[in-house]
Amino acid sequence: MQRITVQTTPIEGQKPGTSGLRKKTHVFMGPHFLENFIQSIWIGIGGVEGKTLVLGGDGRYFNDRAAQVILRMAAASGARKMIVGRNALLSTPAASNLIRLRGTDGGIIMSASHNPGGPDEDFGVKFNMSNGGPAPEEVTDRIFAATGTLTAYDIVETQDIDLSRIGTTNLAGMEIEIVDPVADYAALMETLFDFDAIRALLASGFRLRFDSMHAVTGPYATAILQEKLGAPAGSVVNAEPLPDFGGGHPDPNPIWAKELMDVMFADDAPDFGAASDGDGDRNMIVGRGIYVTPSDSVAVLAANAHLAPGYSEGLKGVARSMPTSRALDRVAEAKGLDCYETPTGWKFFGNLLDAGRVSICGEESAGTGSDHVREKDGLWAVLLWLNILAVKRQSVAEIMDEHWREFGRNYYSRHDYEGVDADKANALVDELRGKLADLPGQDFARLTVETADEFAYDDPVDGSRADKQGIRIGFKGGARIVLRLSGTGTVGATLRVYLEDVESDPSRMHRDAQEALADVIAAADTIAGITRHTGRTAPDVKT
Ligand code: G1P
Ligand code: ZN
Repeated sequence: MQRITVQTTPIEGQKPGTSGLRKKTHVFMGPHFLENFIQSIWIGIGGVEGKTLVLGGDGRYFNDRAAQVILRMAAASGARKMIVGRNALLSTPAASNLIRLRGTDGGIIMSASHNPGGPDEDFGVKFNMSNGGPAPEEVTDRIFAATGTLTAYDIVETQDIDLSRIGTTNLAGMEIEIVDPVADYAALMETLFDFDAIRALLASGFRLRFDSMHAVTGPYATAILQEKLGAPAGSVVNAEPLPDFGGGHPDPNPIWAKELMDVMFADDAPDFGAASDGDGDRNMIVGRGIYVTPSDSVAVLAANAHLAPGYSEGLKGVARSMPTSRALDRVAEAKGLDCYETPTGWKFFGNLLDAGRVSICGEESAGTGSDHVREKDGLWAVLLWLNILAVKRQSVAEIMDEHWREFGRNYYSRHDYEGVDADKANALVDELRGKLADLPGQDFARLTVETADEFAYDDPVDGSRADKQGIRIGFKGGARIVLRLSGTGTVGATLRVYLEDVESDPSRMHRDAQEALADVIAAADTIAGITRHTGRTAPDVKT
């Protein structure tokens, strides 16, 4: 076993995005690419010497190889200890929990989340801090700066470590503890939810289907839903994590989780359906014959969380990312809770959670979570839904109906234009930015603009500022359009257009969202010139 220093040169394009560094897998596998980035993480966090980190990933292609490299580099740079999920697997929320539970200095999560996996698909690496949450921009900026000046990295030359057996081993003086990836996480869930009530619900004939999409939640969902809560075998489907997610796109939305949607809209549909993404932090909730948008889901969870033991004392406050619909704001207002609006990306919730200002957060992109960890958490959302259903004994459709009647319905949809030429996408945003000041008072598709600005966020906890976080156009009566470019894509630019309108007339609360939003959709195209700039006449994905 030998510690060596390898000469290298900076590699371009290693700037972490909304959630860590994501690239095509073959790019990550290229000479020095992973190594340069990992060494830059060590530099960005002020060195890894003497530190203890958690390591795990979503099991996608290259997960196992990358783990070996990271362990050898951590040992070479003097890390004290690495806590690794068996077979280098950890869901993102489980990794966040482990960091917090063990009081480590942080962790490395290998994942490109909901992006497909495989040699021709995506891979990613993300650093989380000692609070269990994604590194803030100040740290990712330092990591990125280091990637630009790197001249060498340190690594130990050795055989692969056997990561398949739970226990402790040693690598060049560094301790490696291999842990069951599920146990601690499952124990945490048991402290938050009334498992007896959920067990009783499931024993009463209530049927559930959880689609793991061949990603990391398979073992978690099987252990918790089937083994602990008694859902019959077969309730968790696509439960075996595969390096290419079975060729699928592990993003829990009606497009990519179509198999589940079809089951839930069939005549003999189960009572409750859910899915999670590649690394287990996203969730999709669907009742028999009804899809619940993530924006509605977080609002329902906030309105009913007190029914679960972990939240029985009420919420401290709530937060949503800016493009997420304002359904949550309505609940917060009714309950007298503070409601924060943050930029896209879970990292912006971290300070609010750490400061005890909020208990529940959500993003329109199928992300929901609470202060139990510092990541969004797919299975947590599913369990909170089940806990609420177990207490209320209503169907998902009944719960939604009641919720809309009480708070009003925020129709919502996101239109994505993928793989757009980056220059064209930037031109669209630049042009729109230039005319924001003139928009108020103008009419588009029967809607009158009331406000138009570019979102900037001043963190109320540490005073840091994030600007250029998306363009917001508000209309009289409550409709809203938000436009921003994705920070997680790996090919060209993705333009995201978020559309929202408010309905308080109960007789108009059961329309198709695209139909209900037709005017807002038309206004978005006219105002932003989407077709003119991109040449696209329709979005690639509507969620
Ligand atoms: C997307 C979502 C965002 C989420 C992120 C990581 O980022 O929109 O809400 O936090 O993935 O899961 P985007 O590609 O829009 O930058
Ligand atoms: Zn994810």
